[in-house]
Amino acid sequence: MTDQTLIILGASGDLTGRLLLPGLGALLTAGHVPGLTLIGAAVDDWDDARWRERVHESFGDGPVAGEVADRARYLRTDVTHADDLRRLLGEARGSVVIFFALPPAVTARACRAMLDVDLPEGTRLVLEKPFGTGSAAAAELNALLTRLVPEERVHRVDHFLGKSTVLNILGLRFANRIFEPLLSNAHVASVEIVFDEDLALENRAGYYDHAGALADMIQSHLLQILGLLTMEPPFTLGAAEFRDRKADVLRATRPWSDDPAECSLRARYTAGELGGRKLPSYADEPGVDPDRGTETLAELIVAVDTWRWAGVPFRLRSGKAIGNRRREAVITFRKPPRVPDGLLGCDQPDRLRIGFGPDRLAVDFNINGPGDPFELDPVTLAAEFGEGDLPPYGEVLRGVFEDDPTLSVRADTAEQCWRIVEPVTGAWRAGKVPLREYPAGGSGPTLPLP
Ligand code: BG6
Repeated sequence: MTDQTLIILGASGDLTGRLLLPGLGALLTAGHVPGLTLIGAAVDDWDDARWRERVHESFGDGPVAGEVADRARYLRTDVTHADDLRRLLGEARGSVVIFFALPPAVTARACRAMLDVDLPEGTRLVLEKPFGTGSAAAAELNALLTRLVPEERVHRVDHFLGKSTVLNILGLRFANRIFEPLLSNAHVASVEIVFDEDLALENRAGYYDHAGALADMIQSHLLQILGLLTMEPPFTLGAAEFRDRKADVLRATRPWSDDPAECSLRARYTAGELGGRKLPSYADEPGVDPDRGTETLAELIVAVDTWRWAGVPFRLRSGKAIGNRRREAVITFRKPPRVPDGLLGCDQPDRLRIGFGPDRLAVDFNINGPGDPFELDPVTLAAEFGEGDLPPYGEVLRGVFEDDPTLSVRADTAEQCWRIVEPVTGAWRAGKVPLREYPAGGSGPTLPLP
């Protein structure tokens, strides 16, 4: 394998410390990307020693990762200046990966500056969500990116696509006969994809107060999960086909109703208590502008207008500071067409539940339980899984270094995901859907399913 250099633009930022470096450390420790050169770049007045310290802290003790950290370089850089970018590339060895760990507006300016720089053959560009700030901005950014490198070398990272249980949806659906034949509007009544977190803002106002729950979780991660749950079986898991099938269903996805008040909900937490922690109201968190009206909980009900899924409502939901942490996709089946007279008791619908942490698969259904043989009882068959070999961020980075864009969000898909939410964000901005409130530690409001 040839030498590779990873250049991180935004090396002093939160994303680099929280996700990127730990994921990279795990990847190196597992023996991937031998001989990596790591270069950090940011405007802060840091030096090699300070950067190395940060890298060491994130990488932990492994010898391979430690060796990369010892050799890491830091260059004070204005990423919007072509000369600075050229200087960075002058330090690179072998093929180059440039990671934009930057806010979207700065990423766009850095890309514009890069038009004046000769990028080495084979350079890959890596971006983290949000990919633009809306469909028009995403399209503009995508057009810029493809003037720099071919689309196959643009990696739009969504770490949910590196989560082993999210990827397990593919095995669950396409490698056995049990569930797949049931996954259609003939048998499914509704689907929920829920990511309710017990985390609150956690000092991320600078990013989150501009994003909100809809863009932070639903427009990005949860729509990717929807894509995996609803796509048609690809012939191979090669990048082109896998991404084509996912794009097909996202193109067919839209808000459930023309009235955003019927199919979307926004709310933000007020003061409360969670796990023994007292939390202030979101509006009082440091760095938050309460007048911006940012939501910390969002729900969106969408339709997937394909032959297979037309008529099935999909509820996408994510909230912060929720007392009852819940991360799962729940497929609720239609009731049986008829239960014979004489079988009594329970009328709970059958459900397939896919847990995204803890990683779990469960089937809820009704059987003749113990006691009266004609009385029905609900039972659950469940399996728990261990973690994947690599943490999610490590898994998506592996694709970047192996030049495999399978898990990258393709340009058209990034734009589609904005297109899906835009009628709702427009209505929210126009005040057509009220901003509701829920106490931190509570379960938050929800919409009735159609
Ligand atoms: C991130 C969001 O992308 O995903 C966070 O910005 C969220 O707000 C996080 O908490 C959830 O992912 P995970 O894998 O940390 O549970």
